[in-house]
Amino acid sequence: MPRLKLQRFRATEPRPETLARYVRIYASEDLYHRGDTLLPLTARELFGRDRPLTLDLGSGRGEFLVEQASAHPDRLFVGIEIHWKSVWDAVNRAEAARLDNVRIVRADLRRILGKVPDRSVAEAWVLFPPPTLEKKRLRKDILSEANIAHLGRILEDGARLRFVTDQPEYFAWKVELIRASGAFEDAVISREFEGGLTRFQQFWEERSIASLRYEALRPPRVGADAASSA
Ligand SMILES: C[S@@+](CC[C@H](N)C(=O)[O-])C[C@H]1O[C@@H](n2cnc3c(N)ncnc32)[C@H](O)[C@@H]1O
Repeated sequence: MPRLKLQRFRATEPRPETLARYVRIYASEDLYHRGDTLLPLTARELFGRDRPLTLDLGSGRGEFLVEQASAHPDRLFVGIEIHWKSVWDAVNRAEAARLDNVRIVRADLRRILGKVPDRSVAEAWVLFPPPTLEKKRLRKDILSEANIAHLGRILEDGARLRFVTDQPEYFAWKVELIRASGAFEDAVISREFEGGLTRFQQFWEERSIASLRYEALRPPRVGADAASSA
């Protein structure tokens, strides 16, 4: 079955003031050459306030992000996305819903997580990432070992990582890597039709392909606390 093509949709570029309100850009070149000079990616920097922060890695056109942000006005939601038309679409959606608890970070996920401080994220989603199984596509993987290590570092004690895909081999490989990182405890593992919560989940579920979901919890770092307070 062909993979869903991202580029085949029209999106209107938001007004400059709307972009300024909702979007933060971290250029790859800056992240690579001048990472230390860039602002950290935190709730305070993005929203001017501290509340539980959810990161959606590869947020696409933002349907799920905006729906969740509408349902949880007391929490903050940040989509990280590289594809500009998807960024625009998500921003238009957030503005239409008059949300002030959503931001979109336009950045490459292979570089940006280093800007997120330790233990600053209450929840992270990796929903239908491109399943990079072929050797030549491995460098495009957004759920690389390096990013799994970042997730273990940036998630708060008790925080949840939610990973969903349609692709069994990719699922098995990534669940193994997440477990091997030693940073997480299994919470949920399932193969179900979930009602098409995201655009890509809708696409696959309409074609009778169930969603493979793995959720893991970041347990408290008792040893680290004891060491730092000693
Ligand atoms: C298959 S789509 C899933 C979108 C959404 N999570 C959903 O479930 O509908 C994967 C998304 O990851 C984004 N993406 C892929 N590689 C990325 C990277 N290196 N940095 C940021 N976003 C990336 C793509 O642009 C795309 O929007």
